[in-house]
Amino acid sequence: RTRIVAVASAVALGLGACASGLTGTPESGKTLILSLNQTEEHPSYVALVAFGERLHEATDGRWDVQVYPNETLGAQQEVIQLVSDGSVDMAVASGTQLENLNLEFAVLNLPTTFHSIEHQMDVLSDPEIVGDLFASLEPDKSLTVLGGLTQGERNLYTVKGPIVEPSDLKGMKIRVQESDIAIDMINAMGGSATPMSFGEVYTALQSGVLDGAENNEVSYVTQKHNEVAKYVAFTRHLIGLDYMLINTDVYHGMSDEDRAIFDREWAETMRHHTQLWVEETAAAIASAEETGSKFNEVDQEAFREALSPVVEKYLTSEQDRKLYDEIQRKADQ
Ligand code: GCU
Repeated sequence: RTRIVAVASAVALGLGACASGLTGTPESGKTLILSLNQTEEHPSYVALVAFGERLHEATDGRWDVQVYPNETLGAQQEVIQLVSDGSVDMAVASGTQLENLNLEFAVLNLPTTFHSIEHQMDVLSDPEIVGDLFASLEPDKSLTVLGGLTQGERNLYTVKGPIVEPSDLKGMKIRVQESDIAIDMINAMGGSATPMSFGEVYTALQSGVLDGAENNEVSYVTQKHNEVAKYVAFTRHLIGLDYMLINTDVYHGMSDEDRAIFDREWAETMRHHTQLWVEETAAAIASAEETGSKFNEVDQEAFREALSPVVEKYLTSEQDRKLYDEIQRKADQ
């Protein structure tokens, strides 16, 4: 109910549902509504608020960004629809959600795709690799992908006992994002995958509906999952990726001059976020350890082997394989 009220009031204030989003009429400026499912402490919130401030300044106040954190406007799956229909302008959405709209995004969600955060960011900034993919949702969904923010390495965490081998996960219900790859991955790693939206995980861990979850250290702490799941296994099974979506009509409705400023400030936001990410990951681990979390290394080889059929399963078409190979080549440059 809170979410519906929030969207309704944003629309009533004239902050959302812009006419231009629906008609494509160019706009001279406005405050863009941006939805985020993270807290105000998360690096994505910090970087996106700074993005809005710089955009405001650089366009002499014509364009601004209002970031709505904490899933106030809805969970990612719902908000993507709101951006598509123009009632919300922008949203951060996990790669797993885009995989559900165009399966080619799955290539960037696989365990072995990215070798490091730096590699991931290099790929995202290369239009020859990602240009077509990022424009692929424009015709049918009115969604433009601007680029992305790293989710860093994702690890497993459990309520009871440390995980070292895939067999330790037997019978454990592990929350995953709502995507086929995420489900296949946890099942292959030995657990029992339970898809669920992000905002529901804390209560499910606390009440025993879940035995564990997987995420990066920053979300583990900012979502307070460390209060209820104390054992973190460094499986490093994936370097995850969030995408920045904007309604296509809003984006193309900007004047060329303002869109150039917007693009420049967005590129700067990706750099800023990556820098914050590294600092905040170290801080999150330290703060979780202080409050009793136990981090342990795992049998990496055993997990890698368990996951390799998942990679093969999703690289079936020639197009997917080509994209995957281009990404791998970028790592060697
Ligand atoms: C990360 C990611 C979010 C995603 C979340 C999840 O925190 O940044 O975009 O929603 O993981 O596991 O659902």
